[in-house]
Amino acid sequence: MQELIKDIPVFSESTDSKSCATAPIISKENSQNGQRKLYIESYGCQMNFSDSEIVSAIMQKEGFGTTSNYAEADLVFLNTCSIREKAEQTVRNRLKEIQAAKKKKPEMLIGILGCMAERLKSKFLEEEKIVDLVVGPDAYRDLPMLIKTVDQGQKAVNVLLSREETYADISPVRLNSNGVSAFISIMRGCDNMCSFCVVPFTRGRERSRDPESILAEARQLFAEGYKEVTLLGQNVDSYKWAGESDKKATEEAEKVGKPTVNFANLLALIAEISPDLRVRFSTSHPKDITDEVLYTIKKYENICNYIHLPAQSGNSRVLELMNRTYDRAWYIDRVDAIRRIIGQDCGISTDMITGFCTETEEEHQDTLSLMEYVSYDFAYMFAYSERPGTLAAKKYADDIPLDIKKRRLAEVIVVQQRNSLKRNQMSIGKIEKVLVEGISKRNPNDLKGRDSSNKVVIFPKKHYKKGDYVNVLIKDCSAATLFGESIE
Ligand code: SAH
Ligand code: SF4
Ligand code: F3S
Repeated sequence: MQELIKDIPVFSESTDSKSCATAPIISKENSQNGQRKLYIESYGCQMNFSDSEIVSAIMQKEGFGTTSNYAEADLVFLNTCSIREKAEQTVRNRLKEIQAAKKKKPEMLIGILGCMAERLKSKFLEEEKIVDLVVGPDAYRDLPMLIKTVDQGQKAVNVLLSREETYADISPVRLNSNGVSAFISIMRGCDNMCSFCVVPFTRGRERSRDPESILAEARQLFAEGYKEVTLLGQNVDSYKWAGESDKKATEEAEKVGKPTVNFANLLALIAEISPDLRVRFSTSHPKDITDEVLYTIKKYENICNYIHLPAQSGNSRVLELMNRTYDRAWYIDRVDAIRRIIGQDCGISTDMITGFCTETEEEHQDTLSLMEYVSYDFAYMFAYSERPGTLAAKKYADDIPLDIKKRRLAEVIVVQQRNSLKRNQMSIGKIEKVLVEGISKRNPNDLKGRDSSNKVVIFPKKHYKKGDYVNVLIKDCSAATLFGESIE
């Protein structure tokens, strides 16, 4: 799952939630007279953003309107991320700013949601005295009850994780949408236990959502004029449904021959809603991505030719320490399969971590050489940040000095910048089908959209508008953006 707030800026026009955002995603103005106002700010990955839309739906039902200005809010929610230390620090700094607003408006209530809430639990209330409410990712249905508790002057905490909760029946309130693309969560949690990662602890066990409810949400979005859905999960390739969301129950049901929907089946079902509805998905796990998924992408023109396939490292020993359960050769085999089955121009992106425990200089070179081999279109790159409670924190020393982690990170970024430019240059002279997302920020006479491989394309507006599919002849590019001209 890509994060919204990245350590490394991506030099693109794009400001939507698929790419780097320098500010958190916040709620819009939508309240009626007399309503209490909720302000919600989301950090971290698309999944968290999608959760904020579920929270907004629950709060709307409780009679709360939304505001985009926290100073005038009755209730402030920060939906938080724990993935790296820096992500948590950002939230703590933000709380200091909000504290100043609360001084002016003492009745303001402050709630911490999401992964930091789950990681720190009631400890958060001791550490940050201004917080009234701490709610983990599986406990949002309990929000109305918890609000009642804080309204009575008490503090409230619910951080119970669930094996079944998928919020399947809740219609999200689209918070920061451009009206063209929307996220749909298809599963929750993660069972993978990568040694560096806090997500299995903050999000709980993996479970899949009823495909009927996913299809209904996608159909509804299409009926409302949306043209693109992104299916979200920490590991979408392990999506499986056999009548139960609990993973164990699903495995039992599969054993006794109950019909099963896997990720390839789900992709096909969504793609068949309409050829005018684009389908994207994130995140694919290299150990689980199957040829069946790749053939399904190939079969449907509206399933985008773009795969986010985080490698994390290019060295097999480091991958083993990371508990990624594949090695370099396996990863390369999956990339070769993508190129063979879908084609050379399928976009591939990655996440890379530099300076993981005991990583040697030679092993770091393996990451660089993997990046050269794959020639990624795009990458999210991070210096390793030890997270308390993870397998790596328990078993290995965080022994690579920060300056070395950073130097390796800088080297990884240099290779990626070069490859991004190289991959973009391959589009020059080609005609790409672009879904228009809106007006370009730099020039009001230009439109901004994406091609199938997720590249941002800028071109003169003419008579086109948001939501149109436009064939664009690519004439120029930077490392982050393609520039072109529409053709009739
Ligand atoms: N489910 C996705 C990843 C979700 S977290 C997957 O398996 O690929 C997003 C990214 O944050 C990860 O891919 C990883 O590159 C990075 N990340 C996670 N934990 C980290 C840590 N402790 N330090 C640095 N980067 C980390
Ligand atoms: Fe974290 Fe690994 Fe799960 Fe991704 S697959 S969320 S990196 S544990
Ligand atoms: Fe996402 Fe951050 Fe949680 S990346 S799952 S919000 S730790």
